[in-house]
Amino acid sequence: MGEDEKQHGEGHVVVVACPTQGHLNPLLQFAKYLAHQGIHVTIPVTFANPDSSSFSHNNNNFPLINLQQVSLLPYSGTEPESSMGLWGRRLASIRLHLVEFLASCDHSVSCIVYDSMMPWILDIAKQFRVSAASFFTQSFAVNAIYYSLYKGCLDIPLGERFVCLDHGFPALRSSDISTFLSDPTKHVTTIEFMTKQFAALDEADWVFINSFDPLEPQESGWIKKQLPFISIGPMIPSIYLNGWLPKDKDYGLSMFEPNNEDSTMKWIDSQEKSSIVYVSFGSLTEAKEELMEEVAWGLKLTNRPFLWVVRESEFHKLPHNFIEDIAEKGLVVKWCSQLQVLTHKSIGCFVTHCGWNSTLEALSLGVPLVVMPQWSDQPTNAKYAEDVWKIGKRVRMEEDGLCRRAEIEICINQVMEGEDCKEIRENLNKWRELAKATMEEGGISNTNINHFVKQILRKTQ
Ligand code: UDX
Repeated sequence: MGEDEKQHGEGHVVVVACPTQGHLNPLLQFAKYLAHQGIHVTIPVTFANPDSSSFSHNNNNFPLINLQQVSLLPYSGTEPESSMGLWGRRLASIRLHLVEFLASCDHSVSCIVYDSMMPWILDIAKQFRVSAASFFTQSFAVNAIYYSLYKGCLDIPLGERFVCLDHGFPALRSSDISTFLSDPTKHVTTIEFMTKQFAALDEADWVFINSFDPLEPQESGWIKKQLPFISIGPMIPSIYLNGWLPKDKDYGLSMFEPNNEDSTMKWIDSQEKSSIVYVSFGSLTEAKEELMEEVAWGLKLTNRPFLWVVRESEFHKLPHNFIEDIAEKGLVVKWCSQLQVLTHKSIGCFVTHCGWNSTLEALSLGVPLVVMPQWSDQPTNAKYAEDVWKIGKRVRMEEDGLCRRAEIEICINQVMEGEDCKEIRENLNKWRELAKATMEEGGISNTNINHFVKQILRKTQ
């Protein structure tokens, strides 16, 4: 939609994200799109920077968004399962703040867009007679798996078996589905948490998903026969896709502080075209020390320049003397502007845990992947990246659950210069074009967002 076609009205939408970076980013982006079209958006911010107990936001990206700080809920990293329990308790405190906010709100709120992992917000919306939109931040494929489980159609653990959910879905092994499902007895709370997303969904006024139909045609077709999913992805800053917001280069609100940003960008500038291996495992993953060691020496073996994001809380796991040892060749930073890095011409590939945002970003920006899924939805994203979208290589795990440095080196070399490299780049070009097309005028995701905006504005007339 062009600047002059923007719609103006009094609609007020509250966008509530789960307090982690991977959930916040797509909801922030959605909020920016709504704000761009004249809708007043409030985002209750409910987190603190896990590493420094502060957070930063780039206000330039939020000209129309009223950032309402409801509370700060510090996050402290722990084991995934216990952190999910902790997360559940934190989400409960969001409930309290949201209710207080709605009760005190003098604008009439037209709609609450809430992260699907907080399904109880639907009850709050009903209590305040506000319409509600559930927002799923993971892929169609991952949601199809959880939904099958919810309906009692998936027998877990898979063990040695393969499962194919429907015609056109790839056959999935235990190592291709959520880590929570491979050992269900250990993840009872988490599985309940994941499947609860689908309860009472038919009572929501909209059900959004951060994916796009051409990327997952069978999966989106299958799930839409059962639930009213509406694709609005990929939710990455608009400058990379439809350019709705010309200055929109990053998500705009970071729970982590990028360190040495200027010198990092200068170092990237100084490297040759497509030469750097960029490595990041996202905002939550807590890798085993042995894995960090294999990654470290795997990177060194490639003899290529690399930029590795190791969060403050993970830093102590780096091998002794590694930083000094690689000073000539690589850079380790605690956080960076991932989108600026991925779009830089010096980046040759992305070694990733395959979080859904990182996967969508690489796919939309055309960066080849080396995938090392760690937990949650990441194995499914990795399976699709390697075998369905064919945009990268997956590092094989040994029986002890670890990846070896030699295998990491091989995969990096394969995507950078191996015989599959050309095909991977061609596939990436195709997906990048499809991602752009869906967000441009007339594209499916673009049309779906516009339709929602019109409905909100109509409600408030
Ligand atoms: C988590 C899950 O792991 C993911 O699979 C799920 O879909 C969402 O929640 P996370 O692990 O943080 O998210 O990964 P990811 O989804 O990739 O999100 C990380 C975000 O942080 C990305 O948008 C990425 O651009 C950003 N990032 C990461 C930075 O801006 N700087 C960094 O240095 C690293």
